[in-house]
Amino acid sequence: MTFETQALGERALSRLDALAAITDEPGRITRLYLSPAHRRAADLVASWMRDLGLDVSEDAVGTVRGLMPAGRSGPDANRKLLIGSHIDSVIDAGKYDGCLGVVAGLLVVEELKARGVALPFGLEILAFGDEEGVRFPTALSSSSALTGTYRADWLEATDSDGIKVKDALKAFGGDPVRVRDCTISPDSAIGYVELHIEQGPVLEHQGDALGVVTSIAGQSRFRLTIEGEAGHAGTNPMPLRRDAFAALAELSVFIERIAREGTAGLVATIGKVAVHPGAPNVVPGNVEATLDIRAGADAPRLAAIDRIRHEVEQIARRRGVKIRLERQTDVPTCPMNETFQSKLASAIGSMGENAKSLPSGAGHDAMAMARSFPAAMLFVRSKSGISHNPAEFTSVSDLGLAVEALVRFVVSLGEPAA
Ligand code: GLV
Ligand code: MN
Ligand code: MN
Repeated sequence: MTFETQALGERALSRLDALAAITDEPGRITRLYLSPAHRRAADLVASWMRDLGLDVSEDAVGTVRGLMPAGRSGPDANRKLLIGSHIDSVIDAGKYDGCLGVVAGLLVVEELKARGVALPFGLEILAFGDEEGVRFPTALSSSSALTGTYRADWLEATDSDGIKVKDALKAFGGDPVRVRDCTISPDSAIGYVELHIEQGPVLEHQGDALGVVTSIAGQSRFRLTIEGEAGHAGTNPMPLRRDAFAALAELSVFIERIAREGTAGLVATIGKVAVHPGAPNVVPGNVEATLDIRAGADAPRLAAIDRIRHEVEQIARRRGVKIRLERQTDVPTCPMNETFQSKLASAIGSMGENAKSLPSGAGHDAMAMARSFPAAMLFVRSKSGISHNPAEFTSVSDLGLAVEALVRFVVSLGEPAA
Protein backbone atom coordinates (compact mmCIF):
# COMPACT_ATOMS: atom_id res chain seq x y z
CA MET A 1 0.00 0.00 0.00
CA THR A 2 1.48 3.29 -1.07
CA PHE A 3 0.43 6.85 -0.43
CA GLU A 4 -0.91 6.95 -4.01
CA THR A 5 -3.10 3.85 -3.76
CA GLN A 6 -4.50 5.05 -0.42
CA ALA A 7 -5.42 8.36 -2.07
CA LEU A 8 -6.99 6.48 -4.99
CA GLY A 9 -9.07 4.47 -2.51
CA GLU A 10 -10.22 7.65 -0.82
CA ARG A 11 -11.34 9.11 -4.15
CA ALA A 12 -13.28 5.92 -4.86
CA LEU A 13 -14.90 6.01 -1.43
CA SER A 14 -16.04 9.61 -1.71
CA ARG A 15 -17.90 8.79 -4.94
CA LEU A 16 -19.36 5.61 -3.43
CA ASP A 17 -20.63 7.71 -0.53
CA ALA A 18 -22.19 10.23 -2.89
CA LEU A 19 -24.07 7.44 -4.69
CA ALA A 20 -25.04 5.80 -1.38
CA ALA A 21 -26.78 9.03 -0.37
CA ILE A 22 -29.17 8.58 -3.29
CA THR A 23 -31.94 6.25 -2.21
CA ASP A 24 -35.67 5.68 -2.56
CA GLU A 25 -35.91 4.81 1.15
CA PRO A 26 -34.39 7.36 3.53
CA GLY A 27 -32.25 5.63 6.15
CA ARG A 28 -31.21 2.74 3.94
CA ILE A 29 -29.91 2.21 0.42
CA THR A 30 -32.63 1.07 -1.97
CA ARG A 31 -32.21 2.06 -5.61
CA LEU A 32 -34.35 -0.12 -7.84
CA TYR A 33 -34.25 0.01 -11.64
CA LEU A 34 -36.01 3.06 -13.14
CA SER A 35 -36.96 4.47 -9.71
CA PRO A 36 -36.57 8.16 -8.82
CA ALA A 37 -33.31 7.32 -6.99
CA HIS A 38 -32.00 5.48 -10.04
CA ARG A 39 -32.82 8.62 -12.09
CA ARG A 40 -30.82 10.82 -9.69
CA ALA A 41 -27.90 8.36 -9.55
CA ALA A 42 -27.78 8.20 -13.36
CA ASP A 43 -27.74 12.01 -13.50
CA LEU A 44 -24.90 12.17 -10.97
CA VAL A 45 -22.82 9.63 -12.89
CA ALA A 46 -23.48 11.54 -16.13
CA SER A 47 -22.32 14.78 -14.47
CA TRP A 48 -19.10 13.10 -13.30
CA MET A 49 -18.55 11.84 -16.84
CA ARG A 50 -19.09 15.30 -18.30
CA ASP A 51 -16.62 16.76 -15.77
CA LEU A 52 -14.05 14.27 -17.14
CA GLY A 53 -14.70 15.49 -20.67
CA LEU A 54 -16.35 12.25 -21.80
CA ASP A 55 -18.90 12.15 -24.56
CA VAL A 56 -21.98 11.28 -22.45
CA SER A 57 -25.21 9.62 -23.52
CA GLU A 58 -28.00 7.57 -21.99
CA ASP A 59 -29.32 4.69 -24.04
CA ALA A 60 -32.93 3.59 -24.50
CA VAL A 61 -32.90 1.31 -21.42
CA GLY A 62 -31.26 3.88 -19.14
CA THR A 63 -27.60 2.85 -19.28
CA VAL A 64 -25.35 5.89 -18.83
CA ARG A 65 -22.40 5.78 -21.20
CA GLY A 66 -19.31 7.97 -21.25
CA LEU A 67 -16.90 7.68 -24.16
CA MET A 68 -13.27 8.73 -24.33
CA PRO A 69 -11.83 8.40 -27.83
CA ALA A 70 -8.49 6.70 -28.52
CA GLY A 71 -5.50 8.87 -27.59
CA ARG A 72 -3.31 7.70 -30.47
CA SER A 73 -3.61 6.05 -33.84
CA GLY A 74 -3.42 2.33 -34.52
CA PRO A 75 -5.54 -0.56 -35.79
CA ASP A 76 -7.91 -0.33 -32.78
CA ALA A 77 -8.32 3.45 -32.80
CA ASN A 78 -11.98 3.11 -33.75
CA ARG A 79 -12.66 0.40 -31.20
CA LYS A 80 -13.11 0.74 -27.45
CA LEU A 81 -12.63 -1.10 -24.20
CA LEU A 82 -15.85 -1.20 -22.15
CA ILE A 83 -15.60 -0.75 -18.37
CA GLY A 84 -18.66 -0.84 -16.18
CA SER A 85 -21.07 -2.28 -13.66
CA HIS A 86 -24.48 -1.34 -12.24
CA ILE A 87 -25.97 1.47 -10.17
CA ASP A 88 -29.21 -0.27 -9.17
CA SER A 89 -29.24 -1.98 -5.79
CA VAL A 90 -31.12 -4.58 -3.80
CA ILE A 91 -33.47 -3.45 -1.00
CA ASP A 92 -31.44 -2.28 2.04
CA ALA A 93 -28.17 -2.67 0.15
CA GLY A 94 -24.53 -1.98 0.82
CA LYS A 95 -22.75 0.83 -1.01
CA TYR A 96 -20.10 -1.11 -2.95
CA ASP A 97 -22.06 -3.70 -4.99
CA GLY A 98 -22.14 -2.45 -8.58
CA CYS A 99 -21.29 1.19 -7.91
CA LEU A 100 -17.62 0.34 -7.38
CA GLY A 101 -17.24 -0.88 -10.97
CA VAL A 102 -18.70 2.36 -12.34
CA VAL A 103 -16.68 4.62 -10.05
CA ALA A 104 -13.53 2.63 -10.87
CA GLY A 105 -14.10 3.20 -14.58
CA LEU A 106 -14.21 6.95 -13.99
CA LEU A 107 -11.06 6.81 -11.87
CA VAL A 108 -9.29 4.90 -14.65
CA VAL A 109 -10.07 7.77 -17.03
CA GLU A 110 -8.88 10.31 -14.46
CA GLU A 111 -5.65 8.40 -13.81
CA LEU A 112 -4.86 7.89 -17.50
CA LYS A 113 -5.23 11.62 -18.03
CA ALA A 114 -3.16 12.45 -14.95
CA ARG A 115 -0.41 10.01 -15.99
CA GLY A 116 -0.41 11.23 -19.59
CA VAL A 117 -1.24 7.79 -21.00
CA ALA A 118 -2.60 7.86 -24.55
CA LEU A 119 -4.37 4.59 -25.31
CA PRO A 120 -4.49 3.16 -28.83
CA PHE A 121 -8.22 2.39 -28.32
CA GLY A 122 -11.17 4.28 -26.86
CA LEU A 123 -12.69 3.69 -23.42
CA GLU A 124 -16.40 3.60 -22.71
CA ILE A 125 -17.62 3.69 -19.11
CA LEU A 126 -21.02 2.07 -18.56
CA ALA A 127 -23.44 2.47 -15.64
CA PHE A 128 -26.08 -0.23 -16.06
CA GLY A 129 -29.48 0.07 -14.37
CA ASP A 130 -30.95 -3.42 -14.18
CA GLU A 131 -28.49 -5.90 -12.80
CA GLU A 132 -30.19 -6.99 -9.59
CA GLY A 133 -33.54 -7.94 -11.14
CA VAL A 134 -35.32 -6.92 -7.94
CA ARG A 135 -38.04 -4.59 -9.22
CA PHE A 136 -38.98 -6.52 -12.36
CA PRO A 137 -38.65 -10.24 -13.14
CA THR A 138 -35.84 -9.52 -15.60
CA ALA A 139 -32.15 -10.30 -15.38
CA LEU A 140 -29.24 -8.26 -16.66
CA SER A 141 -31.60 -6.48 -19.02
CA SER A 142 -29.46 -3.34 -19.50
CA SER A 143 -26.34 -5.29 -20.44
CA SER A 144 -28.45 -7.65 -22.56
CA ALA A 145 -29.70 -4.63 -24.54
CA LEU A 146 -26.10 -3.67 -25.19
CA THR A 147 -25.36 -7.12 -26.63
CA GLY A 148 -28.56 -7.30 -28.69
CA THR A 149 -30.03 -10.03 -26.47
CA TYR A 150 -32.85 -8.07 -24.80
CA ARG A 151 -35.99 -10.21 -24.68
CA ALA A 152 -39.04 -8.45 -26.13
CA ASP A 153 -41.29 -9.88 -23.39
CA TRP A 154 -39.28 -8.03 -20.72
CA LEU A 155 -40.98 -4.80 -21.82
CA GLU A 156 -44.33 -6.23 -20.70
CA ALA A 157 -43.02 -7.53 -17.35
CA THR A 158 -44.58 -5.81 -14.33
CA ASP A 159 -43.39 -4.78 -10.89
CA SER A 160 -45.38 -5.44 -7.70
CA ASP A 161 -47.51 -2.33 -8.39
CA GLY A 162 -48.43 -3.59 -11.86
CA ILE A 163 -46.20 -1.04 -13.65
CA LYS A 164 -44.78 -2.39 -16.90
CA VAL A 165 -41.11 -2.06 -17.79
CA LYS A 166 -42.05 -0.20 -20.97
CA ASP A 167 -44.03 2.44 -19.05
CA ALA A 168 -41.37 2.81 -16.35
CA LEU A 169 -38.81 3.26 -19.12
CA LYS A 170 -40.80 6.07 -20.72
CA ALA A 171 -41.19 7.83 -17.36
CA PHE A 172 -37.42 7.50 -16.81
CA GLY A 173 -36.64 9.11 -20.16
CA GLY A 174 -35.87 5.88 -22.01
CA ASP A 175 -37.56 4.54 -25.11
CA PRO A 176 -38.95 1.00 -25.31
CA VAL A 177 -39.24 1.28 -29.07
CA ARG A 178 -35.52 1.91 -29.46
CA VAL A 179 -34.11 -0.95 -27.40
CA ARG A 180 -32.37 -2.36 -30.46
CA ASP A 181 -30.41 0.89 -30.86
CA CYS A 182 -28.59 0.10 -27.60
CA THR A 183 -26.58 -2.69 -29.22
CA ILE A 184 -22.82 -2.30 -29.59
CA SER A 185 -21.54 -4.50 -32.42
CA PRO A 186 -19.10 -7.19 -31.23
CA ASP A 187 -16.28 -5.95 -33.45
CA SER A 188 -16.49 -2.34 -32.23
CA ALA A 189 -15.23 -3.22 -28.74
CA ILE A 190 -12.04 -4.99 -27.75
CA GLY A 191 -13.65 -6.30 -24.59
CA TYR A 192 -15.40 -5.63 -21.30
CA VAL A 193 -13.92 -5.50 -17.81
CA GLU A 194 -15.76 -5.12 -14.51
CA LEU A 195 -14.33 -4.48 -11.06
CA HIS A 196 -16.62 -5.75 -8.30
CA ILE A 197 -16.45 -6.57 -4.62
CA GLU A 198 -16.14 -10.32 -4.14
CA GLN A 199 -19.34 -10.58 -2.05
CA GLY A 200 -17.93 -13.80 -0.59
CA PRO A 201 -15.25 -14.75 1.96
CA VAL A 202 -12.59 -16.42 -0.21
CA LEU A 203 -10.11 -13.55 -0.68
CA GLU A 204 -10.29 -12.52 2.95
CA HIS A 205 -9.79 -16.11 4.03
CA GLN A 206 -6.67 -16.41 1.82
CA GLY A 207 -5.30 -13.06 2.94
CA ASP A 208 -5.45 -11.66 -0.61
CA ALA A 209 -6.82 -8.24 -1.53
CA LEU A 210 -7.50 -8.99 -5.20
CA GLY A 211 -8.67 -11.88 -7.34
CA VAL A 212 -9.28 -12.73 -10.97
CA VAL A 213 -12.61 -14.34 -11.82
CA THR A 214 -12.40 -17.60 -13.77
CA SER A 215 -16.15 -18.07 -14.43
CA ILE A 216 -19.52 -16.83 -13.21
CA ALA A 217 -22.09 -19.29 -11.87
CA GLY A 218 -25.10 -19.95 -14.08
CA GLN A 219 -28.44 -18.96 -12.61
CA SER A 220 -32.13 -19.65 -13.13
CA ARG A 221 -34.96 -17.75 -11.52
CA PHE A 222 -38.56 -18.95 -11.21
CA ARG A 223 -41.92 -17.61 -10.14
CA LEU A 224 -43.63 -20.15 -7.95
CA THR A 225 -47.39 -20.00 -7.39
CA ILE A 226 -49.37 -22.42 -5.27
CA GLU A 227 -53.14 -22.47 -5.28
CA GLY A 228 -54.86 -24.27 -2.42
CA GLU A 229 -58.07 -23.31 -0.67
CA ALA A 230 -58.54 -20.58 1.91
CA GLY A 231 -60.62 -21.58 4.91
CA HIS A 232 -61.41 -21.01 8.59
CA ALA A 233 -58.36 -21.74 10.76
CA GLY A 234 -60.56 -23.04 13.59
CA THR A 235 -63.05 -25.25 11.79
CA ASN A 236 -61.00 -27.00 9.07
CA PRO A 237 -59.54 -30.32 10.30
CA MET A 238 -55.94 -30.84 9.26
CA PRO A 239 -56.50 -33.76 6.85
CA LEU A 240 -59.12 -31.80 4.91
CA ARG A 241 -57.02 -28.67 4.32
CA ARG A 242 -55.40 -27.60 1.08
CA ASP A 243 -52.92 -25.22 2.68
CA ALA A 244 -50.83 -23.43 0.03
CA PHE A 245 -48.18 -22.28 2.52
CA ALA A 246 -47.72 -25.77 4.01
CA ALA A 247 -47.12 -27.02 0.45
CA LEU A 248 -44.49 -24.33 -0.07
CA ALA A 249 -42.86 -25.18 3.25
CA GLU A 250 -42.57 -28.84 2.26
CA LEU A 251 -41.18 -27.92 -1.15
CA SER A 252 -38.73 -25.49 0.42
CA VAL A 253 -37.27 -28.16 2.74
CA PHE A 254 -36.88 -30.48 -0.28
CA ILE A 255 -35.12 -27.74 -2.27
CA GLU A 256 -32.76 -26.98 0.58
CA ARG A 257 -31.87 -30.69 0.88
CA ILE A 258 -31.05 -31.18 -2.80
CA ALA A 259 -29.01 -27.96 -2.87
CA ARG A 260 -27.00 -29.21 0.12
CA GLU A 261 -26.40 -32.50 -1.70
CA GLY A 262 -25.51 -30.78 -4.99
CA THR A 263 -22.11 -30.29 -6.57
CA ALA A 264 -20.31 -27.30 -8.14
CA GLY A 265 -21.46 -24.99 -5.36
CA LEU A 266 -25.17 -25.53 -6.05
CA VAL A 267 -27.28 -23.03 -4.09
CA ALA A 268 -31.04 -22.48 -4.07
CA THR A 269 -32.97 -19.65 -2.45
CA ILE A 270 -36.65 -18.90 -1.92
CA GLY A 271 -36.15 -15.20 -1.27
CA LYS A 272 -39.60 -13.67 -1.53
CA VAL A 273 -42.89 -15.10 -0.33
CA ALA A 274 -46.37 -13.61 -0.28
CA VAL A 275 -49.12 -15.53 1.54
CA HIS A 276 -52.77 -14.81 0.70
CA PRO A 277 -55.14 -13.82 2.07
CA GLY A 278 -52.65 -13.38 4.92
CA ALA A 279 -54.51 -13.46 8.23
CA PRO A 280 -53.86 -15.38 11.47
CA ASN A 281 -57.23 -17.10 11.36
CA VAL A 282 -57.32 -18.08 7.68
CA VAL A 283 -55.74 -21.19 6.11
CA PRO A 284 -53.48 -19.82 3.31
CA GLY A 285 -55.30 -20.22 0.02
CA ASN A 286 -52.60 -18.92 -2.25
CA VAL A 287 -48.84 -18.39 -2.14
CA GLU A 288 -46.50 -16.58 -4.52
CA ALA A 289 -42.76 -17.04 -4.17
CA THR A 290 -39.47 -16.67 -6.03
CA LEU A 291 -36.87 -19.38 -6.50
CA ASP A 292 -33.25 -18.63 -7.48
CA ILE A 293 -30.91 -21.55 -8.31
CA ARG A 294 -27.21 -21.27 -9.17
CA ALA A 295 -24.16 -23.44 -9.62
CA GLY A 296 -20.64 -23.16 -11.00
CA ALA A 297 -21.54 -25.65 -13.78
CA ASP A 298 -24.74 -26.03 -15.78
CA ALA A 299 -25.39 -29.77 -15.33
CA PRO A 300 -25.93 -29.74 -11.53
CA ARG A 301 -28.21 -26.70 -11.82
CA LEU A 302 -30.32 -28.25 -14.57
CA ALA A 303 -30.47 -31.61 -12.76
CA ALA A 304 -31.68 -29.86 -9.59
CA ILE A 305 -34.41 -28.10 -11.58
CA ASP A 306 -35.59 -31.47 -12.95
CA ARG A 307 -35.74 -32.93 -9.44
CA ILE A 308 -37.64 -29.90 -8.16
CA ARG A 309 -40.19 -30.20 -10.99
CA HIS A 310 -40.70 -33.85 -10.14
CA GLU A 311 -41.21 -33.04 -6.46
CA VAL A 312 -43.62 -30.24 -7.36
CA GLU A 313 -45.87 -32.82 -9.07
CA GLN A 314 -45.70 -35.17 -6.07
CA ILE A 315 -46.53 -32.46 -3.53
CA ALA A 316 -49.33 -31.07 -5.69
CA ARG A 317 -50.91 -34.51 -6.03
CA ARG A 318 -50.55 -35.44 -2.35
CA ARG A 319 -51.86 -32.13 -1.05
CA GLY A 320 -54.53 -31.41 -3.65
CA VAL A 321 -53.00 -28.04 -4.58
CA LYS A 322 -51.97 -26.57 -7.94
CA ILE A 323 -48.32 -25.59 -8.22
CA ARG A 324 -46.90 -23.56 -11.10
CA LEU A 325 -43.15 -23.17 -11.52
CA GLU A 326 -42.49 -20.63 -14.29
CA ARG A 327 -38.92 -20.03 -15.41
CA GLN A 328 -38.29 -16.31 -15.72
CA THR A 329 -34.60 -16.15 -16.43
CA ASP A 330 -31.93 -18.63 -17.26
CA VAL A 331 -28.31 -17.55 -17.67
CA PRO A 332 -25.74 -20.29 -18.31
CA THR A 333 -22.42 -20.58 -16.51
CA CYS A 334 -20.08 -18.08 -18.06
CA PRO A 335 -16.29 -18.57 -18.37
CA MET A 336 -14.22 -15.38 -18.43
CA ASN A 337 -11.79 -14.58 -21.25
CA GLU A 338 -8.43 -16.25 -20.61
CA THR A 339 -6.20 -13.61 -22.20
CA PHE A 340 -7.84 -10.93 -20.08
CA GLN A 341 -7.55 -13.15 -16.99
CA SER A 342 -3.81 -13.48 -17.44
CA LYS A 343 -3.40 -9.75 -18.12
CA LEU A 344 -5.36 -8.97 -14.94
CA ALA A 345 -3.14 -11.41 -13.03
CA SER A 346 -0.01 -9.70 -14.41
CA ALA A 347 -1.37 -6.27 -13.45
CA ILE A 348 -1.99 -7.50 -9.90
CA GLY A 349 1.42 -9.20 -9.79
CA SER A 350 3.14 -5.99 -10.93
CA MET A 351 1.91 -4.38 -7.72
CA GLY A 352 3.49 -7.09 -5.59
CA GLU A 353 0.08 -8.55 -4.79
CA ASN A 354 -0.98 -12.18 -5.14
CA ALA A 355 -3.49 -12.78 -7.94
CA LYS A 356 -5.90 -15.41 -6.69
CA SER A 357 -8.12 -17.07 -9.32
CA LEU A 358 -11.66 -17.73 -8.13
CA PRO A 359 -15.15 -18.35 -9.53
CA SER A 360 -18.05 -15.96 -8.89
CA GLY A 361 -21.23 -17.25 -7.27
CA ALA A 362 -22.94 -13.88 -7.72
CA GLY A 363 -24.33 -12.82 -11.08
CA HIS A 364 -22.82 -9.87 -12.93
CA ASP A 365 -23.33 -7.78 -16.06
CA ALA A 366 -20.16 -9.47 -17.35
CA MET A 367 -22.31 -12.57 -18.02
CA ALA A 368 -24.41 -10.71 -20.55
CA MET A 369 -21.44 -8.78 -21.94
CA ALA A 370 -19.55 -12.05 -22.56
CA ARG A 371 -22.15 -12.92 -25.23
CA SER A 372 -20.54 -10.33 -27.52
CA PHE A 373 -17.13 -9.41 -26.14
CA PRO A 374 -14.10 -10.91 -24.39
CA ALA A 375 -15.14 -10.28 -20.78
CA ALA A 376 -13.24 -10.34 -17.50
CA MET A 377 -13.75 -9.48 -13.85
CA LEU A 378 -11.46 -8.28 -11.11
CA PHE A 379 -12.61 -8.98 -7.54
CA VAL A 380 -11.64 -7.07 -4.42
CA ARG A 381 -11.89 -8.46 -0.90
CA SER A 382 -15.20 -8.06 0.99
CA LYS A 383 -15.16 -8.00 4.78
CA SER A 384 -16.52 -11.31 6.10
CA GLY A 385 -17.93 -11.94 2.62
CA ILE A 386 -21.03 -9.91 3.53
CA SER A 387 -23.04 -8.42 0.66
CA HIS A 388 -26.64 -7.51 -0.21
CA ASN A 389 -26.57 -6.12 3.29
CA PRO A 390 -25.76 -2.63 4.64
CA ALA A 391 -22.78 -4.16 6.49
CA GLU A 392 -21.03 -4.72 3.13
CA PHE A 393 -17.47 -3.32 3.50
CA THR A 394 -14.22 -3.06 1.57
CA SER A 395 -11.35 -1.07 3.07
CA VAL A 396 -10.10 2.14 1.48
CA SER A 397 -6.69 0.59 0.95
CA ASP A 398 -8.22 -2.40 -0.88
CA LEU A 399 -10.29 -0.04 -3.02
CA GLY A 400 -7.10 1.79 -3.97
CA LEU A 401 -5.28 -1.43 -4.84
CA ALA A 402 -8.21 -2.57 -6.97
CA VAL A 403 -8.44 0.66 -8.95
CA GLU A 404 -4.66 0.69 -9.46
CA ALA A 405 -4.80 -2.91 -10.76
CA LEU A 406 -7.54 -1.91 -13.17
CA VAL A 407 -5.52 1.07 -14.42
CA ARG A 408 -2.49 -1.17 -14.99
CA PHE A 409 -4.62 -3.76 -16.78
CA VAL A 410 -6.01 -1.12 -19.15
CA VAL A 411 -2.55 0.30 -19.82
CA SER A 412 -1.19 -3.21 -20.50
CA LEU A 413 -3.89 -3.81 -23.15
CA GLY A 414 -2.51 -0.84 -25.03
CA GLU A 415 1.08 -2.10 -24.98
CA PRO A 416 2.45 -4.17 -27.87
CA ALA A 417 2.49 -7.94 -27.18
CA ALA A 418 5.90 -8.99 -25.82
C1 GLV B 1 -26.76 -10.07 -8.23
O1 GLV B 1 -26.21 -9.46 -7.34
C2 GLV B 1 -27.05 -11.46 -8.05
O2 GLV B 1 -26.09 -12.26 -8.10
O3 GLV B 1 -28.20 -11.79 -7.78
MN1 MN C 1 -23.39 -6.46 -8.36
MN1 MN D 1 -25.99 -7.44 -6.16
